[in-house]
Amino acid sequence: MMDVGLESLSFYTPHYYFDLKELAKHRGVDKDKYYRGIGQEKMGMTPPDEDVVTMAANAAHHALERVDKSKIDTVIFGTETGIDQSKSAAIYVHSLVGLPSHCRSFEIKQACSGATAGLQLAQAYVAMNPDRKVLVLAADVARYDLESPGEATQGAGAVAMVVSAEPRILKLHPESGAYTEDVMDFWRPNYRDEAVVDGKYSIKVYLNALAESWKQYSAQTGRRFRDFERFVYHLPFTRMAEKAHLHLAKLADSTLSVEELKHQLQDTLYYSRITGNAYTASMYVGLAGLLDLCRDDLSGREIGLFSYGSGCMGTFFSGQVCAGYRSHLDTARHERMIKNRTALDYESYLDFFNFQLPRDGSALETAHHKTGLYRLSGIDGHKRLYEKVESLVEAETPAAAQASA
Ligand code: COA
Repeated sequence: MMDVGLESLSFYTPHYYFDLKELAKHRGVDKDKYYRGIGQEKMGMTPPDEDVVTMAANAAHHALERVDKSKIDTVIFGTETGIDQSKSAAIYVHSLVGLPSHCRSFEIKQACSGATAGLQLAQAYVAMNPDRKVLVLAADVARYDLESPGEATQGAGAVAMVVSAEPRILKLHPESGAYTEDVMDFWRPNYRDEAVVDGKYSIKVYLNALAESWKQYSAQTGRRFRDFERFVYHLPFTRMAEKAHLHLAKLADSTLSVEELKHQLQDTLYYSRITGNAYTASMYVGLAGLLDLCRDDLSGREIGLFSYGSGCMGTFFSGQVCAGYRSHLDTARHERMIKNRTALDYESYLDFFNFQLPRDGSALETAHHKTGLYRLSGIDGHKRLYEKVESLVEAETPAAAQASA
């Protein structure tokens, strides 16, 4: 059978973050509740001139660097922070990164699992059209009400993946286990900018969706828990992955030592812990972390992935890491992007959080912040305006970024 999978994988997070130890001070909470209890340290924050389109375009720009763009004929954008009820965010990115006109571009939504649905569609499409490539995008800004329990689990980020019949990073296996159940654990009505969440309940339904997806997946494939070298989970906060992994191990009649738990998960959690939840992108941010940071050569190793979207839909699927994958990763840029970031103080955190573009059709030019190669330059007549700029967040050294501040 022909191989189909990830030819490239790039991750983007905004230049600004808010440290949860600062949030802890202002909320009168012990910082360890955040750092240890939920396993989060920092939340990526979008400045006024970034949104899901600019984040995805930045990730896409790098994911396409070594790919033959003329072969891309489909762009699928998974997000739950859509900027328009009608026009898809995929079209803006298609234009910003200069993709061929003979292309279908659309957005897909099912909470945090939209990008996984997109990835699976792309996989099937490429299997039927092996000379074509699909750009799959995932980008979100996780927002909860100020002073709510969810506040500490905010974040922002994007991932771009090229799916093709020339996988260089991860070969995707065709089987997957899926589970859908109508529950209200997390949702965002059209009239709200912040999600509504029943956090404790969402943990329960996440674990149930994991168990049900896994049961179907393992019955279909005969693969067992011990067949996987590493596991990547959807990461609303990193402690969730620990809970999920212990739950799955128990279901699979495996006992895990603390060392095994750490070994199987640790690298997948690093980026998420310091950038926060990125909803549709978060599991793929975990995958990027695993491949970037894992000291062992994972070539030929099996990876299990669990994607969860509240409401809810779970998908368990898997892939095999390609031989020589390391030379196709975007590790050095990811590292620079993370190192060069700037911490926000509490007042600036609130300013970023409370910023809103005009909603009455009036014009606004957004102030220049440090961004990647694409920024939201403003809005006029209800139209968002984007531009390409010099990247200030991916300068070669932190000093260079500082100098251009
Ligand atoms: N030191 C160490 N750990 C501490 C602590 C401290 N000082 N104080 C509390 N903790 C631990 C708690 O024991 C708990 O651990 P446990 O999960 O192992 O029981 C953890 O920190 C969280 O504390 P809790 O009181 O349960 O937190 P909370 O009521 O503020 O809610 C979430 C936490 C994660 C439920 C909340 O942030 C949330 O709803 N986030 C959004 C989740 C989401 O996005 N879900 C949808 C997608 S799946």
